Amino acid sequence: MEITVDTRPLAAIEADALVTYAFEQEKPVEGLLAQLDAATGGALTKLAASGELTGKMLESTLLYYPQGLAAQRLYILGAGKKGKFGTPELRRLAGAATRSLKSRQVKRLTFLVRENDRNAAAAQAVVEGLILANFDSDKYKTDKKPGNAIVSAALAGWEESSRADADRGLARGRIIAESQNFARELGNEPSNRLTPRMLADRAEAMAKAAGLSVEILDEKKIAEMKMGALLSVAQGSAEPPRMIVITYTPEKLIPGAPVLGLVGKAITFDTGGISIKPANDMEKMKYDMCGGAAIIGAMRALASLKPPCKVIAVVPSTENMPGGRAQKPGDVQIAMSGKSIEVINTDAEGRLILADGIAYAKQLGCTHLIDAATLTGAVVVALANVNVGVFGSDQAFTDQLLASSKAAGEKMWPLPIDEEYREMIKSGIADIQNVGSGKGGGAITAAMFLKEFTGDTPWIHLDIAGTAWQDDLKPWNAKGATGVGVRTLVDLAMKFK
Ligand code: BES
Ligand code: ZN
Ligand code: ZN
Repeated sequence: MEITVDTRPLAAIEADALVTYAFEQEKPVEGLLAQLDAATGGALTKLAASGELTGKMLESTLLYYPQGLAAQRLYILGAGKKGKFGTPELRRLAGAATRSLKSRQVKRLTFLVRENDRNAAAAQAVVEGLILANFDSDKYKTDKKPGNAIVSAALAGWEESSRADADRGLARGRIIAESQNFARELGNEPSNRLTPRMLADRAEAMAKAAGLSVEILDEKKIAEMKMGALLSVAQGSAEPPRMIVITYTPEKLIPGAPVLGLVGKAITFDTGGISIKPANDMEKMKYDMCGGAAIIGAMRALASLKPPCKVIAVVPSTENMPGGRAQKPGDVQIAMSGKSIEVINTDAEGRLILADGIAYAKQLGCTHLIDAATLTGAVVVALANVNVGVFGSDQAFTDQLLASSKAAGEKMWPLPIDEEYREMIKSGIADIQNVGSGKGGGAITAAMFLKEFTGDTPWIHLDIAGTAWQDDLKPWNAKGATGVGVRTLVDLAMKFK
C-alpha cells in the first residue's frame, strides 16, 4: 500500500473514500467535522439529528457522492467516548475503515485525522492500522479475488506546520506494520511449508536484505555446542533443528553499553511428542513458532529504525514430533548451561528449546533478555486472548516493557514469579523438571523453569499463547496469526540504553 501525506483542503481531495471519526454526543460544530458539515451542506448535522450518527464505537455511516466534496464517499466511524480515546482506538478505526472499504472495492482512501490527533504518534497509529488491516491470510486460496486490497492511502487533516510529524509517524508506522505483517505471514504458514530449515532460510533472506548479520546453526553445530535441551526435542523429528541468530549493531557502539537479547520459541509444529496432544485443534499448533516470528519481525523493523543499542535475536527452531527416536517422559537431558532436566512431559518442549536459546544469548554477550513464546495453555486460562502474560526478574526493566506495551497498543499484564513456585519444578533425580508438580500455576512454573537459565541477567518472559492467534474475525484485522509482540519489542529497543 502506497501511503502519502495530503495537505490539500479537504473539499478538494479526490479519493474513492474520505474517512474520519466522530465521538459520542459530539455535534459537528467545530474543527474538522464543522468543516465537513459546511462543505456538505449540513449533512452531518442532519445525520446526527436523525439519530443515525451517534459516535458509538465502530458505528459506520457511509455517504455516496457527498455534495461539496471531490471524494466519492464520506465514511464516518464512531470513535466512542472522547475521554477514552487514544492511539489504540485510532489504530483500530483506521483498520476497520480499511477492511470495510476494501470489501466495497475501494482502492484509494484518505484518512482525515481530527484536530487533537495531529502528532507523530497518531500518524504512526493510523498507518499501522491501515497496513495491518490490508493484510489477508489468503496465500493458498486459488480463487482469491485479484486486487481485493487498498492500493493507496493518504493521511490528511494536517497543516503545513505539523506535516513533519505526519511524515515521521508515517515512516515509522510503515516499517513497524510491515514487519508485523511479516511475522503474521510466518505464523500463518502451515508446518509443511515452514519447517525449521525453511524458517531459517526466510529469516536469513530477510536479514541479508535488511543489512543485518545472520548466522544459522545447523544440527551439527547445535550438537557441537552441546545444546542438549533443543536436541532432545528435535530428536523425535525427521526435520533437523536450526538455531537462528540475527544481530543488529549500531553505527556508534559504545563499549560497555547494554546489549539486548531477544529469544523466541519457534516450534514449527507441536504435536506434543510422546505426551501427544488430542486431535481436536491440533492443527493450530503450526503457530507454535509465533514467538520466534515476532522476534524476527522486530529485527526487520529495527534494521531500518536503527536503535542506539546492539540487539541480538536468538531463535531456536524445531518440530516436536513423536518419532521412533523421540524423547520419552522420564528422560534426563543436559542443557547447554550444564543443568540436568528431567522431562516429565514432552509437550512442555518450548521451555526446553528456550533454555538453550537463553544460554546461547548470554554466551553471545546479551546483558538483558526478553523471550517471547507460545508457552502454555495455562496463560490462556489466566488471561484469555486479551493480554500477553509478562514475567520479569527485574522491576525497572519490566516497567520499561510495560510502558512500551502501552505505547504500542499491545495489551500485556504482569504475573508473579515468587520463589515459592521454584519448589514445584524440583526433580527427584535431576536439577530441575520441565513441568510443575502440584496443581495450577502452569504459566508461572513454566516461567520459573526459564528463569533457572537466566542467572543474574535481567530477564522478561512474554507468554503469547493466548494472543498470537486470533480465531474470530475482528472488524480491523484478518483472522490468524496476530504478530503480537513486534510493536512492543520495537518500541522498547528504540528507547533502550
Ligand atoms: N505450545 C504449547 C502451548 C500452547 C497451548 C500454545 C495453547 C498455544 C495454545 C506448549 O508447548 C504446551 O503444550 N504446553 C503444555 C505444558 C504442559 C504439558 C505442562 C500446556 O500448556 O498444556
Ligand atoms: Zn507443547
Ligand atoms: Zn509448544
